[in-house]
Amino acid sequence: MAYSFCGVATTILLALVLAIVPTVEGQKLLAPSDDSPEAEHMIVPNEPKSLDDCHFRYYEFGKKSINKPTFGVPAYLREFAHMAAIGWTQPDKTVLWNCGGSLISERFVLTAAHCAQRQEPDVVRLGDINLFNDTDDQYAQQIRIAKFIANPSYSFLYEYHDIALLLLERKVVVHDTVAPACLWNDEEIRFTSLEATGWGAVGFVEGQTPTLLKVTLSPFEKDRCSNFIENNRRLPNGLDSNQMCAGDDKQDTCRGDSGGPLQVKLLHNTRVTPFIVAVTSFGRPCGQSVPGIYTRVAPYISWIQSTLKEWGEDEWLLQPQACARKYVELREYEPRVQLKKIGSQQQLDMTKAHLFSDSSRQLVEIHWESLRVNSSNECYGVIIDESTVLTLARCTMGINGMEPTHVTFVGNKTHIITHRYKHPNYEESSFRNDIGVLKVKEPFEFNADFTPACVWTKNTYLEPEMEVTGRGLLELNRLYTEAAPEIDRTSLTNTVDVLGIVMEQNGTNCSLPKQYTERLPSGLSQEHVCFGAEPFLVPSTCSQAFGGPLQREVFRYGRSLMYVNALNLFGRDCGFGESAVAVRPAHHRNWLESVLYPPKETEIVYKRQPVTFLHEGLEEGDNCTAPNGLPGVCVNYMYCPKVTHDGLRGREVKFCETGSLVCCPHRNIRYATNSDAEEIDSCERNQDTSSDEEEGSGETSSASLSHVVPIVWRNGREERVCIGTIVSSRIVLTAASCLHASKLPSEVELRIGMSTGRLQFIAGEVIVHPEFDNTSKKHNLALIKMKDTRNEEQLGQSRACLWRNSTHTPLMIDQLVLVDRTFKTKEAHLKFNTDCRRAFRRVLSASELCLKVDDLDEEPVLIDDGMPAFWSKRDGGYLVGIVSHRSSVSDRSIVRYTRLSSYIDWIKSEL
Ligand SMILES: *[C@@H]1O[C@H](CO)[C@@H](O)[C@H](O)[C@H]1NC(C)=O
Ligand SMILES: *[C@@H]1O[C@H](CO)[C@@H](O)[C@H](O)[C@H]1NC(C)=O
Ligand SMILES: *[C@@H]1O[C@H](CO)[C@@H](O)[C@H](O)[C@H]1NC(C)=O
Ligand SMILES: *[C@@H]1O[C@H](CO)[C@@H](O)[C@H](O)[C@H]1NC(C)=O
Ligand SMILES: *[C@@H]1O[C@H](CO)[C@@H](O)[C@H](O)[C@H]1NC(C)=O
Ligand SMILES: *[C@@H]1O[C@H](CO)[C@@H](O)[C@H](O)[C@H]1NC(C)=O
Ligand SMILES: *[C@@H]1O[C@H](CO)[C@@H](O)[C@H](O)[C@H]1NC(C)=O
Ligand SMILES: *[C@@H]1O[C@H](CO)[C@@H](O)[C@H](O)[C@H]1NC(C)=O
Repeated sequence: MAYSFCGVATTILLALVLAIVPTVEGQKLLAPSDDSPEAEHMIVPNEPKSLDDCHFRYYEFGKKSINKPTFGVPAYLREFAHMAAIGWTQPDKTVLWNCGGSLISERFVLTAAHCAQRQEPDVVRLGDINLFNDTDDQYAQQIRIAKFIANPSYSFLYEYHDIALLLLERKVVVHDTVAPACLWNDEEIRFTSLEATGWGAVGFVEGQTPTLLKVTLSPFEKDRCSNFIENNRRLPNGLDSNQMCAGDDKQDTCRGDSGGPLQVKLLHNTRVTPFIVAVTSFGRPCGQSVPGIYTRVAPYISWIQSTLKEWGEDEWLLQPQACARKYVELREYEPRVQLKKIGSQQQLDMTKAHLFSDSSRQLVEIHWESLRVNSSNECYGVIIDESTVLTLARCTMGINGMEPTHVTFVGNKTHIITHRYKHPNYEESSFRNDIGVLKVKEPFEFNADFTPACVWTKNTYLEPEMEVTGRGLLELNRLYTEAAPEIDRTSLTNTVDVLGIVMEQNGTNCSLPKQYTERLPSGLSQEHVCFGAEPFLVPSTCSQAFGGPLQREVFRYGRSLMYVNALNLFGRDCGFGESAVAVRPAHHRNWLESVLYPPKETEIVYKRQPVTFLHEGLEEGDNCTAPNGLPGVCVNYMYCPKVTHDGLRGREVKFCETGSLVCCPHRNIRYATNSDAEEIDSCERNQDTSSDEEEGSGETSSASLSHVVPIVWRNGREERVCIGTIVSSRIVLTAASCLHASKLPSEVELRIGMSTGRLQFIAGEVIVHPEFDNTSKKHNLALIKMKDTRNEEQLGQSRACLWRNSTHTPLMIDQLVLVDRTFKTKEAHLKFNTDCRRAFRRVLSASELCLKVDDLDEEPVLIDDGMPAFWSKRDGGYLVGIVSHRSSVSDRSIVRYTRLSSYIDWIKSEL
């Protein structure tokens, strides 16, 4: 009646787990970094125009590094603590151990009904691995059987309903080595491999294999087993639906002891709990590679429940979730967290846990007002910028005519949905093009703990590992490192957000549950990502948040931000055990960008700037009347920088015969011989050469501040000072508001040579930008023109170049600050103007710039109008902006600037 294991066998270890730190923290995948250039080299577009700009946009919230916590816990654990040996006491007081069984409650053992065919057993032994060796007997519990309860439908004549319960005389003492297993109560057996355990040949040849062994088997289709059971008088109807067969193709194995379990270990709380799927019923002798026949447990659940109830046991504990949670601290840790074994001790790294009760900060839940949303309509999304939630197309649509109305996110906050977009090619209830966008009314207010997720726009991922967002029972997701508190029925109703570590499983590793493959006639396509993780879960441990992200932090340009790789589309148990599928936004990038970055109104206005053609007959050198009635001459536009400047501002420009001839007021004509303009234009070239020579000299030396110069003037008896920047041998730039503070001085004094200690005083003429507006601080720029030409050489050597690129700006910029009367620089980084709107309560124009200055809190720092912000990647640096407005209303680290690249033409026109 008992059979031996002839194949690969594993002895069971008693493991002592070592305690290190008793705290539990959320696990994190380490952020991989791609081959992006260093931050200092990055040049960024002025306005966000594509999904790729996200990392710059939210740079300030990025983390500079990621901490990875580790810890361990103590426990004595045994792999098959439910395994029972069932014995018959012989007249000579020895015991024949001829059947196996599984402890399923503290007083009941599940076994096969045929074990009592000749004589009922009378004793059960638990917690013993080697039945014939006393060295491991310290944990063994031998208990007499009070009652053998065969299933009422079982008959000794047939093999059907071969299942029975043993009532023990007393309760077992639950211990690390003796604990009930749980029951798989689902009719569907989704597992591709199962484990059978038993003592094998005990009872036949004493001493042959007295140690508990396990073997891995696969469930077989019924047809495949029919051959082996033909002409079996005990199976007149063949196998019935309550039976299953399982075997092993490769190994020459037998199944376990009669009555013993066919089981699977399911993951929850970072532990694995054995679940009994079936009871070993019968098979053929060993050595013939034939399947065994098993009685499935699921069809008998209600009989087991009522039997247990009848004898006063709490049948609620048979429920998979309750059972798993009840004995959680007695279960083994999942292999991933087991770091290493040293003898009987074990170290754990809980950060490697597959599942964790934690929220994605970017996850939102989508709601339909006044509609009690049925769980099948549960919809989630991911925040990707201040006003946008990315989700599935099906989550943007109406239910019974009701549109989704609002989203909730971290901390129960609610935002109203204003716009809904679904992919135009989405067809209802299909798995194709299932992607959509929701826009919310109030902007999300981000900070270092609440950032949006950037959209991963590449077709491949940096690492195959990522985090799936789901929800599950709180009680199955806590990490218990000590004794877990008792649970009751109410504690199994609380759900929490769950993050699971899954792998991309493209190609052959993708194994989808049948219910989904049937809905995918042509299989998965390029837009889909198949993902999953190996272990199966206790049901309700994790269910995908549909529309929620598959995410991963990515380290770029020195900061890490969260990325959304894909959106949960379908699957069960978060892809654990069997694969699940998500949709990749990267595949729908064009559609997404068309929704997120529609052409801007300003760009349209720009195209209809006023242009007036004057007299078609006028040629170069002819007199003409410029706008505002000023007398002028027709010249090539190159000789009239003012006109270019006006044109870009959208102001009236008059052309002569051709589009390249403009009517230029006399005083604005600048012929190519203008050495100042040339100096400004050629600055970049010169700098490039010098930087090439310095290549290899290592790190950028601390930025030279030789181009910074105090501008001094007297106001009554008071001396006032403003900071200027030398940009050519005759020109210094500063903010108009700084000079303007009381009464505009017509002449100022420059104190150059501060850095060399040879102070010189030079007089300069002040030219304020004609459109400067003291209220809005727009066009906040003043130009100081040197009157004395003797210092040109010295100034020329000190100057900074002007950043001339009008569409792109460096990401990392140095801000000049005053700390304790000393000039220093602080690192600052670009913010998109659109994202500074709230800080300044108005839309910044293209000729303004917005930066976030870091580390302002460390010391008393002064940032004043007129102070430069420059890119110091190259020697001398590029002047990018001049502070036009110290700080914003809400955050003093956000500073507004005059963007120099917009004023090149004005500067040249005033030379
Ligand atoms: C019992 O097990 C111990 C350790 O595995 C071994 O040294 C001893 O020989 C065994 N005794 C018997 C009777 O098998
Ligand atoms: C939820 O929806 C499913 C199918 O859409 C339906 O079978 C079920 O009855 C609904 N449940 C409730 C409580 O409305
Ligand atoms: C969110 O709301 C739920 C019930 O609506 C409540 O149980 C929970 O404590 C709230 N959480 C926070 C952080 O306010
Ligand atoms: C599958 O993933 C591997 C590694 O992640 C990658 O090398 C391979 O190109 C992928 N194949 C497909 C078809 O996406
Ligand atoms: C497929 O799964 C096997 C076993 O889990 C693993 O070794 C292999 O790397 C996986 N292949 C891919 C392409 O992910
Ligand atoms: C152009 O105007 C100037 C004075 O602004 C005048 O001296 C000159 O004669 C004019 N030339 C022609 C061709 O009309
Ligand atoms: C400019 O505005 C500031 C306040 O923003 C004020 O103190 C100053 O007097 C104004 N200057 C002029 C010339 O209006
Ligand atoms: C501005 O910089 C960007 C990025 O480096 C570059 O692609 C673009 O050509 C530059 N534009 C000009 C006018 O130099």
